[in-house]
Amino acid sequence: MPASSLLERDARVIWHPDTQMLTEPAPIPIVKGEGALLFDEQGQSYIDADASWWVNTIGHGHPLVAEKIAAQARHLAHCIFACLTHEPAVKLAEELLRLLPGNFSRIFYSDDGSTSTEVALKMAIQYWHNQGIKRTKILALEGGYHGDTFGAMSVGAKSVFTAPFENYLFEVTYLPLPQPGQAFPIPEEELDQYAAWIFEPLIQGAGGMRMYRAEALDPWLEICRRHGILLIADEVMTGFYRTGRLFACEYLQQKPDIICLSKGLTGGTLPLGVTACTEQIFEAFLSQDKRKTFFHGHSYTANPLACTAALASLDVLLSPAYQSQIQHIIRQHQHFVQQLHEYPCFQHPRQLGTIAAFEVIDEPNYTSPLRDKLYTFYLKHRVLMRPLGNTLYLMPPYCITNEQLQQVYEATFALAETLLHN
Ligand SMILES: Cc1ncc(COP(=O)(O)O)c(C=O)c1O
Repeated sequence: MPASSLLERDARVIWHPDTQMLTEPAPIPIVKGEGALLFDEQGQSYIDADASWWVNTIGHGHPLVAEKIAAQARHLAHCIFACLTHEPAVKLAEELLRLLPGNFSRIFYSDDGSTSTEVALKMAIQYWHNQGIKRTKILALEGGYHGDTFGAMSVGAKSVFTAPFENYLFEVTYLPLPQPGQAFPIPEEELDQYAAWIFEPLIQGAGGMRMYRAEALDPWLEICRRHGILLIADEVMTGFYRTGRLFACEYLQQKPDIICLSKGLTGGTLPLGVTACTEQIFEAFLSQDKRKTFFHGHSYTANPLACTAALASLDVLLSPAYQSQIQHIIRQHQHFVQQLHEYPCFQHPRQLGTIAAFEVIDEPNYTSPLRDKLYTFYLKHRVLMRPLGNTLYLMPPYCITNEQLQQVYEATFALAETLLHN
């Protein structure tokens, strides 16, 4: 009897994330990744235009990173991190503290973007609790996304993602996306009840690639800082040159007290989350009283393979070749976004660093019926891109070749032609 195909076996046993399993098309069986390309079982290649959920910065199958992970696996693949330590975790912490903008002094490891924001929220809440100060409220931005766990859902926008869980989410005060010159919407005398403000700096990713300016954010951050509110920058998506600089917070005058990293941290190879904080926060947990301990830890905290991958990926990212690739993508995107303005079917063409985004036909709408058509259209052009409703965006691995980049742009222009004639 012939062995079942991968698709048949998948259909029997797998539940895919963020997927309506009844109606969505079957997944594509992928057997290999190389550079900006993913290959299916027939050897057909697809350009990974949004870097596999925004994680892949260095390209698939980077030989240096693969070698380092393999060597580390032979040496020490994992050990508990509560009572042990190891070189990859310490070295990565040292390296990140050297590179992060602001005054960070401690690195707390976890597993992914959601856990990095959960940790940040718990850290901020317990920071005040440990000092016996009643500051319990949390600020967040309207339209934000910080992950799928309960704390992360609480501070994110309420949407189809969160509707079934609404009764289980804690209350948050939402601020609008700041506009230049806009007054801070909460009276200053009310601010002393807030523990923290969590925000995605300069661009809200899953919320629809909504971009806003550092000049608008800074004055609001300054007001919150004056009132002691801890500033949590969620750089899970923006980190590692997505906005053109290593971290989006580099564009800000007001530096955060806590920063969350994941996705591009390991270049797209292994899951890892980081929550960095200032010494002031760390010190609020130091006590003879055990109850002031930060009782949070995941089994795979500081996994040596993931830390090694992150170190190797940083080396690649900081290399002159990748630095010039990043600049090249930024320049090409600038030109592309300029061209998009000529097509009436594309709304709000915009760019921030290596991210280009626009809406198709309408105002942004996550449940737009256009979504599936757009996905299929790009797939036919051998471009893998998962639209956010009718919002399209390009966020490729930095090793993408000029030819591949032009292929993605060409697919977009072909889309405009198709829309014009339908
Ligand atoms: C800004 C931001 N924070 C947190 C997350 C959650 O990360 P993860 O999917 O790794 O849990 C995401 C994921 O898209 C994100 O964009």
